[in-house]
Amino acid sequence: MKSKFLFSPEMVYLNHGSFGACPIEVFNDYQNWQRKLEDSPVQFITKTGIEALDISKKALAGYINCDSEDFFFTSNPTTAINTVMRSLKLNEGDEILTTDLEYGAMDYTWQFFEKQTKAKYVRQSIELPIKSKEHFLEMFWKGYNENTKVIFISQITSATAIIFPIKEIVTKAKQLGLITIIDGAHVPGHIDLDIKSMDPDYYTGALHKWLLAPKGSTFLYVKKVLQKNLDPLIISWGYGNPRTARGQFLDYHEYNGTRDFSAYLTVPSLLKFRKDNNWEVEIKKCRQLILEWYPKFCELLDTKPICPVSSDFLGQMFTVIVNTEKPIKLKEELFNRFKIEIPITEFKDKYGVRLSVQPYTTISEIELLYDSLKKIKEEGVLIK
Ligand SMILES: Cc1ncc(COP(=O)(O)O)c(C=O)c1O
Repeated sequence: MKSKFLFSPEMVYLNHGSFGACPIEVFNDYQNWQRKLEDSPVQFITKTGIEALDISKKALAGYINCDSEDFFFTSNPTTAINTVMRSLKLNEGDEILTTDLEYGAMDYTWQFFEKQTKAKYVRQSIELPIKSKEHFLEMFWKGYNENTKVIFISQITSATAIIFPIKEIVTKAKQLGLITIIDGAHVPGHIDLDIKSMDPDYYTGALHKWLLAPKGSTFLYVKKVLQKNLDPLIISWGYGNPRTARGQFLDYHEYNGTRDFSAYLTVPSLLKFRKDNNWEVEIKKCRQLILEWYPKFCELLDTKPICPVSSDFLGQMFTVIVNTEKPIKLKEELFNRFKIEIPITEFKDKYGVRLSVQPYTTISEIELLYDSLKKIKEEGVLIK
């Protein structure tokens, strides 16, 4: 499977979670679109590329189950959440409830919002280990009060790699009349996503992580009734000059200056790659490996899992706590000495080794990680 990707051969790539990886076949499709763009720039940007965009959007809409008019492509989840943040109308004292396990760039985005509006970003503490869904929900909703107006939360967390029970959160939030903004950066192509059944107000998911798209492709879904109030992040031609039959929402967000949108056109080819390579079945095996190996790594590093070792909480990643005072050195050691690319993440007052498993990952690579950490631990310098 690895030969179907473009990885440098000497590297053991156990960090799919950070930036994903794109199969050669999909990357070729991406470059073919770029060639078409250079071949006939005007035709592509005004007609043929737009037609291809519609085809790609329909393919993605089928995969995540929503209408293709209810989302637009953007480069990354941070841009998507910034777009939502810029149009959110909250008053001084209103609260956005979140957890203390969110992605750093999102925390910064909401801290910026706090300064602009005097609304409050409430990072509810989630005690680790999470013991069950009920335990998580109980901890999370402790942060709710009459000032809460918005829920912002990841479906799969970044540093801790935990799947949160989002369906339950969205359902309760709706009963309470709250706006829901879901950061599903890690979700498309990783765990099942059914937007219609979840029914969030805003949902963003990266395509370049687990769905295998080229870098810089992400979607932002917006519920129909909220679309007319979402301002574009970039004011461009689509703003003051409605010019297509696509409607205000897509004019606002899909026309923002000259850009290369080739990465967005690869959804049909990546879905073909997934089908031809039995990807949906293969990733189930990866999830099994995660459940098998997580307890072994915890034992090796004398620590406990941070969530139940079950498919409700873990997908194709786990984070094992590591007792280190030198996280940067530890990451460098793993890469320089053992050629293993893997992140050392930080959450609360802890560090963790976050393993990603994809169908291109071999058991011997996971064993290499295990043996390398064992050696480093025995040396007693970087891991205590
Ligand atoms: C939970 C979460 N949200 C958002 C992102 C998006 O990151 P960026 O916009 O920096 O690509 C990531 C990336 O790893 C993530 O893990």
